[in-house]
Amino acid sequence: MSLWNFGYQGYDSAEEGLREALCTLGNGYFATRGAAEESAADGVHYPGTYVAGGYNRMQTEVAGRTIENEDLVNLPNWLCLSFRPAGGDWFNADAVEFLTYEQTLELRAGLLRRRMRFRDRDGRETTLTARRLVHMESPHLAAIEWVLQPENWSGQVTLRSALDGRVTNAGVPRYHALSGDHLVPVISEPLGDDGMYLVAETRQSHLRVAQAARTRLFRTEGSAAAERRSVREIGYIGQDIEVDVSAGEPLTVEKLVSLHTSRDRAISEPVLAAVETLAEVERFAALAAGQARAWSHLWDRCDIVLEGDERAQQILRLHVFHLLQTLSPHTVDLDVGVPARGLHGEAYRGHVFWDELFVLPYLNTCLPEVTVALLRYRYRRLGSARRMAREAGFAGAMFPWQSGSDGREESQVVHLNPESGRWLPDYTHLQRHVNAAIAYNVWRYYQVTDDREFLSLYGAEMLVEIARFWASVVTWNPQRERYEIRGIMGPDEFHDAYPDRDEPGLDNNAYTNVLVAWVLQRALMALDRVGANRRRELSESLNLDARERVTWDEISRNLFVPFHDGIPSQFEGYERLAEFDWAGYRARYGDIHRLDRLLEAEGDSVNRYQASKQADVLMLFYLFSHTELEQLFDQLGYELHDDMIGRTVDYYLQRTSNGSTLSHVVHSWVLARRDRGRSWALLKEALESDVADVQGGTTPEGIHLGAMAGTLDLVQRAQTGLDMHDVLHLDPCLPEELVGLGMRLRYRGHWVDLGVVHERMTLSAPDGWSGPKRVVIRGHTYEFSAGQRLEVPCHSERGGHRPAQM
Ligand code: BGC
Repeated sequence: MSLWNFGYQGYDSAEEGLREALCTLGNGYFATRGAAEESAADGVHYPGTYVAGGYNRMQTEVAGRTIENEDLVNLPNWLCLSFRPAGGDWFNADAVEFLTYEQTLELRAGLLRRRMRFRDRDGRETTLTARRLVHMESPHLAAIEWVLQPENWSGQVTLRSALDGRVTNAGVPRYHALSGDHLVPVISEPLGDDGMYLVAETRQSHLRVAQAARTRLFRTEGSAAAERRSVREIGYIGQDIEVDVSAGEPLTVEKLVSLHTSRDRAISEPVLAAVETLAEVERFAALAAGQARAWSHLWDRCDIVLEGDERAQQILRLHVFHLLQTLSPHTVDLDVGVPARGLHGEAYRGHVFWDELFVLPYLNTCLPEVTVALLRYRYRRLGSARRMAREAGFAGAMFPWQSGSDGREESQVVHLNPESGRWLPDYTHLQRHVNAAIAYNVWRYYQVTDDREFLSLYGAEMLVEIARFWASVVTWNPQRERYEIRGIMGPDEFHDAYPDRDEPGLDNNAYTNVLVAWVLQRALMALDRVGANRRRELSESLNLDARERVTWDEISRNLFVPFHDGIPSQFEGYERLAEFDWAGYRARYGDIHRLDRLLEAEGDSVNRYQASKQADVLMLFYLFSHTELEQLFDQLGYELHDDMIGRTVDYYLQRTSNGSTLSHVVHSWVLARRDRGRSWALLKEALESDVADVQGGTTPEGIHLGAMAGTLDLVQRAQTGLDMHDVLHLDPCLPEELVGLGMRLRYRGHWVDLGVVHERMTLSAPDGWSGPKRVVIRGHTYEFSAGQRLEVPCHSERGGHRPAQM
């Protein structure tokens, strides 16, 4: 097994959607699913291309009301390349007999390769090797190389190379009732002898997209002569190229493509840019060399070497690959957030949720400049968040649960339960905890990087406005003498209301309340850290006075946290809900990840049961170290006992269906120090989430970026006890199954290399290191300087430092 390749043997039309999502190629600017070049959207194949942040809004009549959705738009398909022998059919994977078929994603080189030998219905045998890239160095370029070799026949073939703008958003069957016809064709024209370009525009957002393509043919001795004819339809342009081929002689077809949009910087307009970008490149091989170079630079920074489990290593690299294809150094120039499903499909319409909470920790340690770009996506939408807070009767800024182009709330108001066929009200926008997650991300980024400029110019303002929002949401309960947060939802999406209450929302979600207490304190700390001048400026421009700060402090010490049997309740009254019959439902349905849908289809409601979709209370143990959580509980006037942690973990693990792929990540994390074997097993499950499509059909609609990044973070922080908050702490604790780990970390502007095996760990600083002088390993402080290699035995006794995970 190559640890740098991920692939498949044999063609399987039933698995094509999954393969397409997992073989997506992208560069942070745009991405294209791994659909076969010769395919079109037909129920088996779905060639989708998406530009980061390329949204459009449309209205639809559904269930008796007009609803509006904003979608990440499926852009013209640039892949189109096919061939047919004279008198034969267009090549169609579903109609030929494959003698061999192999599809491989080459992670190190950033290439997708298909190598196949097939026999058509007339007995012609052909070998075709297709390679493809979406360029990581020049983000506006992509290319396909076909090497076509007739094995037992000679004659004329017609090749069809095209740009197809007649596409719609049709990648998610659940959304078929919703409008998906986002593109208006603008123009398509030939470009010289061997080229063409196509322009389309989105209907409402007026995003203009231009693609230019050139298709050239080569034989071993040089260019191949061919007859070309233009094929045109509205929204489509192609070229039919006729050429002679001979048995045993390869014909190379190179299709080079450029893509620009009207949102690009440093261009006049997209067509001119697309034509010029295309003119700069000659051959596929040169692009492939640049691609390998760009990827090798990224791998240098971002790879995680894991010894002892080849499958885990391979999938971990696949996760790095997809993360970097969605969020890359090119993101720095864009105004985009973290799309929950990558740029790999149309599920959740390309929206941005709280999932960055799982993505940014890893980026903080290898591409912190990308974290800043993502945090600034939120910062730019502060105005919209302020407006939303105001309209809802609150102060400060209320960020939406689902965000798209301009930061308004994009959560749907009704959603379809495919099990019952019913459209149901959707209250997920009540997950106000996304606001705490954004504040958390701001602070963690600042702690890891010590980027005071960011804190001063952007972060502090975000923290202040989020703190203000929460301070206006809480209500005082005089009986309890505590502040409360009522009428919201926690991360567990199964519970959106009390079974006996008419209006949606739950009271005192423990995760939210504890996190808010932490956030309010960070807002105060941020104001301290930015210094007197900036504090004065912020106070003046945000109209912030000392009284408000005193109130935040007061709330942060007196928020109510519900408990039952000595453990935090997911929300007030959770323990009074009925126990769910897990065994019975598993026996009846098999897969009960989405038991909310099953129950609704039965006329019941998951709101009646102690059954959660995903980690909720346990998120607290994921976000905070033991020490931090102890302090936080103390700040709130509660006690956190070791015994309570264990019981909390056990209680919720038994009551969670893992209907979100984020859940395994959190559960593996909370068990990392308590039960290494079980934690490793859960990490392995999290690693399989997308590659094995464990939710039975969700991955073809887009990868789960949060879960993918979460596995990287898990290996990076949970296994090494890495804590970069104010000092660099390490406390490795490898599971039995692993032999060793290696990674590079960016800490406060410097790189360090970390290696861990069971008995020892090494930390080396390159020459020229001028980072922090001290590191704390297993509770002992070590001096650390340029060019030094620190080797520390791992079987030493535990020091005072409590591990970052429990
Ligand atoms: C999860 C959310 C998540 C969203 C997008 C949902 O299924 O419950 O926590 O933010 O997917 O990934």
